[in-house]
Amino acid sequence: MQAAVRLGNGLIMHQRDVPIPSPTEPGQVRVKVHAAGTNPVDYKLPKLVAGPIAGIDVAGVVDAVAPGAPPGAAFDVGDEVFGFATGGSVAEYALADASKLASKPETMTFVDAAAMPTAYVTSYQALFEHGEMRPGARVLIIGASGGCGLAACQLAAAGGAAEIVAVCSSRNAQLCADAGATEAFDYADDERMQELLTRRFDLVYDAASGSGAGEDYRGFGMDVLAEPRGRRVAINGGFGEWFATLTGWGRGERDRLMLTRQDGEELTKIVELLGGEPSPVIDRVFELDLSGVNLGFARQKSRRARGKIVIKVV
Ligand SMILES: NC(=O)c1ccc[n+]([C@@H]2O[C@H](COP(=O)([O-])OP(=O)(O)OC[C@H]3O[C@@H](n4cnc5c(N)ncnc54)[C@H](OP(=O)(O)O)[C@@H]3O)[C@@H](O)[C@H]2O)c1
Repeated sequence: MQAAVRLGNGLIMHQRDVPIPSPTEPGQVRVKVHAAGTNPVDYKLPKLVAGPIAGIDVAGVVDAVAPGAPPGAAFDVGDEVFGFATGGSVAEYALADASKLASKPETMTFVDAAAMPTAYVTSYQALFEHGEMRPGARVLIIGASGGCGLAACQLAAAGGAAEIVAVCSSRNAQLCADAGATEAFDYADDERMQELLTRRFDLVYDAASGSGAGEDYRGFGMDVLAEPRGRRVAINGGFGEWFATLTGWGRGERDRLMLTRQDGEELTKIVELLGGEPSPVIDRVFELDLSGVNLGFARQKSRRARGKIVIKVV
């Protein structure tokens, strides 16, 4: 089959002669991939850790189920699904644990469904689980115009936030407003950022710190937290923050760095929260071929994508 294969050093190439995987473990299914979403983690993790085939987010049709699946197991051959693949998704076929998949809403395209898993589940867990967001909350989203940030704007709006303040470049202010942001501040505008420092928020969702160009909004995020219950939830950070998160040592109640828990049921809850018809913001769609894989991952790495990048397979 064709697949996007990691060569090392973040380099991902299109390859034609990759063996089709077979589902072997109970609960595992094989998905005939129709579309795969990309994420920064696809080029950040080394091949040794993440395996040869790139991609986590997948949407497609179940075409094989591992032997030994109990009757009435979650998914059967022919079901349209989306969620988190194991061992790569930017390929013609992908494996997934059924618990990490959800039924694709009939009204949703495979491309839209493939854009959702990591960005929406991460932002949902950041806002509602770690951040304990309630209706009426004042929410600040840093990195609001990226895949996770735009998902967070939509989810915060659906969850009844009273203020959704986006930090993004000025060219993306309208994009964030369309996704639900009530105001936007350009991080390159020092005066505006000083003005923002006078405001207070119940929740700061930081989707920009530690993302590759030395951005560090941790101090800023803590300074604008409302007392006594405001929370900062980050999805990337420095070594010290990751150490605290992974070991539990020095992890603060009000300042958290989280790792996404891949969960199919949560995707179903997200679809419900968004009224059954989510509309993820798609930056661009590429084909699964030499130029599509090159251009798609180059665009992902550029950090200038406005929303999600999807590789269309079928
Ligand atoms: N912990 C986890 O489990 C987890 C899960 C998912 C993602 N992540 C991490 O979270 C980060 C965001 O992921 P993503 O998928 O949203 O990435 P993305 O789509 O690549 O985000 C790109 C966005 O970053 C913004 N940006 C670039 N430089 C910035 C700066 N100096 N200050 C503020 N914003 C800046 C850009 O906004 P403008 O163009 O408007 O400048 C762009 O919209 C990545 O580091 C990713 O690895 C972690």
